[in-house]
Amino acid sequence: MTELRVRVPASSANLGPGFDSFAIALPLLAEYDVRPARAWAVSIDGDGEGVPTGDDNLFVVGARAAAKAAGATLPPQHVTQRSAIPVGRGLGSSAAAIVGGVVAANALLGEPLDRRSLLRVASEVEGHADNVAAALYGAFTVAVPDDAGPVATRIAFPRAWRICLLIPKEALETETARAVLSPNVSRADAVFNLAHAAALLAAVLRSDGALLSIAMADRLHQPARAKLVPDLDDVVGAARGAGAFGAALSGAGPAIVAFAPARLAARVVAAMEEAAHDRGTSARGRVVRVRAAGAQVRRA
Ligand code: HSE
Repeated sequence: MTELRVRVPASSANLGPGFDSFAIALPLLAEYDVRPARAWAVSIDGDGEGVPTGDDNLFVVGARAAAKAAGATLPPQHVTQRSAIPVGRGLGSSAAAIVGGVVAANALLGEPLDRRSLLRVASEVEGHADNVAAALYGAFTVAVPDDAGPVATRIAFPRAWRICLLIPKEALETETARAVLSPNVSRADAVFNLAHAAALLAAVLRSDGALLSIAMADRLHQPARAKLVPDLDDVVGAARGAGAFGAALSGAGPAIVAFAPARLAARVVAAMEEAAHDRGTSARGRVVRVRAAGAQVRRA
């Protein structure tokens, strides 16, 4: 008998200049049914694409990390996962699993951890806080590093804007996409991203598409990652040409995300698909809205 049902949204991080800081929650959901069992086990309903089902499953890792942070013992659980989040595309499938485990453990233990502690635990497991912040809080989030662990601030996303996603068939490991990044950044590039990230935030707060079309540029990660996602510039150019305010790599890629006014979103996603197909990349497009809700727990 299911004891808890946890739903966690997909997420798209970075959004151009906000490397490891910005993310939005998306309405592609991972759902986990949790019930007591003799030993931890995970069953995958549908396409699991190589998701581990043992102790190294990220839901289990997240749940155990939360119990440890709470100084509690969590009895073993059986988890059934149904996920609409494609794995290894830069859409936060790992963050969703970790956040799912963290919030499920917290609920089973009687809520010993507050939201900031949940964010800290999930970020420690994931290695960075951007995707987990959006998966936990929903909407548009800024994850801010702090000596006492990350803080996330949640901002409503303009209702009239749509998110156009281009999701390639081939996956790209985040580890590979982080390995190509240089450990050093020039002062000019740091200033460029600082100014663009601040402008992107102002554009979202004011629903200012004209400012967004300037703000959604990056020098910290996309130039290096373009080697791994060779269609990036063409797809971003096609999206902008079809009326998107801007476009960027989704997280570490290879998915690409564009922000567009609602009336142009179908045209933008078609242009992104066409640009990818012209370069021989198999990919499908989707138009979605930002999801306002983050992770949700329901007792069955
Ligand atoms: N901010 C992260 C990155 C997101 O770009 O590597 C991927 O998990």
